[in-house]
Amino acid sequence: MKYYFAPMEGVSGYIYRNAYQKHFHNIDRYFTPFIAPKKNHAMSSKEKNDVLPEHNLGMTVIPQILTNQAEYFLHTSSVLAEMGYTEVNLNLGCPSSTVVSKKKGAGFLSEPDRLEHFLEDVTEGLARLGMQLSIKTRIGMRDVEEFADILDLYNDFPLSELIIHPRLQKDLYNNTPDWNAFRQAVDTSKHVLCYNGDLFTVEAYQKFCETFPGIDCVMLGRGILRNPCLLDQIQQNGDVDYGKIRLFHEDVLNGYTEAFSGDKPVLFKMKELWSHMLELFPQGDNYAKKIRKVEHISEYKTIAAQLFDSVCV
Ligand SMILES: Cc1cc2nc3c(=O)[nH]c(=O)nc-3n(C[C@H](O)[C@H](O)[C@H](O)COP(=O)(O)O)c2cc1C
Repeated sequence: MKYYFAPMEGVSGYIYRNAYQKHFHNIDRYFTPFIAPKKNHAMSSKEKNDVLPEHNLGMTVIPQILTNQAEYFLHTSSVLAEMGYTEVNLNLGCPSSTVVSKKKGAGFLSEPDRLEHFLEDVTEGLARLGMQLSIKTRIGMRDVEEFADILDLYNDFPLSELIIHPRLQKDLYNNTPDWNAFRQAVDTSKHVLCYNGDLFTVEAYQKFCETFPGIDCVMLGRGILRNPCLLDQIQQNGDVDYGKIRLFHEDVLNGYTEAFSGDKPVLFKMKELWSHMLELFPQGDNYAKKIRKVEHISEYKTIAAQLFDSVCV
């Protein structure tokens, strides 16, 4: 099985990625949170920092791009090619209303003719740059019936792989991923497929493997945020290793402390991390309020140490 790390805007940037890689090193490919090219073509410093080769040593990283303009997509790809990247991923899954209303992300799925022209231009342009294209997609906007045409459209283009999060845009993250729709892709797509969605536990992963024995690639997102040991457990069984998470957490904190000035932005990031990870800790509930309210890194370190002490022997 190949394991991919899902792109997660605001969470899975290069600092989290490096800390995860250092302690767990079990990911085949990391996908960056989306780069959203603008009219002036310039990447924001946050976007640039995330893809700089020196920030991604020893990992296979695939930059993801969110746009509906082929010209923007290709310009960003050419900058990435100069940095040494050989593949880019197109985001056709983002369900957020601000993105969708601009017909980007999952919103682009509602304009199949425009998407077809976009893919014609992009695949031609990438071939000239010597780059490959993969797509990360939802199964439609409002109705699963849309998916057959979407799969047909993708079949007309050369993709290195097709990553499917089988939810509709209107589902956001509600309901459960539609495994019948994923089955439809298995049956009709000519592309190499990767499954993504709600694999939060070893049991969920095993059930997926039993249901789709022919699929040899999964992308994990929130499952790893909630339990950084998830993939270790999938591969080797065993319990959650809180000691390992403690060291990982230390590196994430040090990374943000070095990258940002002042306590506030660092704590903002750490609070977001705990919003996913706290449930893994039996005493987590007792710490939720303390972490939410903390204003200084020194105080935060004391709270985090107590929390880890409660689980590490
Ligand atoms: C906080 C957050 C940020 C996300 N940002 C992105 C993104 O930048 N690009 C993208 O394609 N998907 C993004 N996603 C979706 C995830 O990549 C993934 O498809 C989704 O979480 C389902 O997988 P999971 O159930 O394993 O988490 C994001 C999800 C979350 C929770």
